[in-house]
Amino acid sequence: MIQVTRRETFNAAHRLYNPKWSKEKNFEIFGPCSRVHGHNWELFVSVEGEVEEDTGFVIDLKILRDVMREHIVDKVDHTYLNEDVDFLAGQLPSTENFAIAIWKILHPILKNNHGVELCKIKLTETDNHFLEYYGK
Ligand code: NI
Repeated sequence: MIQVTRRETFNAAHRLYNPKWSKEKNFEIFGPCSRVHGHNWELFVSVEGEVEEDTGFVIDLKILRDVMREHIVDKVDHTYLNEDVDFLAGQLPSTENFAIAIWKILHPILKNNHGVELCKIKLTETDNHFLEYYGK
């Protein structure tokens, strides 16, 4: 098994704001992140599989790029995540919830359409803040 990774970038705004709470409570918990702010996000998607004899690839990285752009990046780039993105509707768009939502979309597509197993999502919000999600 070999893992291969593709990186895509996008710009999107969000705020960490729980509508069940007052503005004051949101500021107490989330601080300045409770205000609308933007990030230059980086999304790394890693898949694993066997090397195909004819191509020498686990997956053609152009395919992985196109899947990431069509299903994620084109839907979130230059948006306000709290309101504009169908697959985040009703959720607090923390980096954690965002990564889990991305996994749920990409995992079946990569497996069923392209025969590879999604094994990691890395989502970078700032240079100092990122997470890695392995689907469990
Ligand atoms: Ni943020």
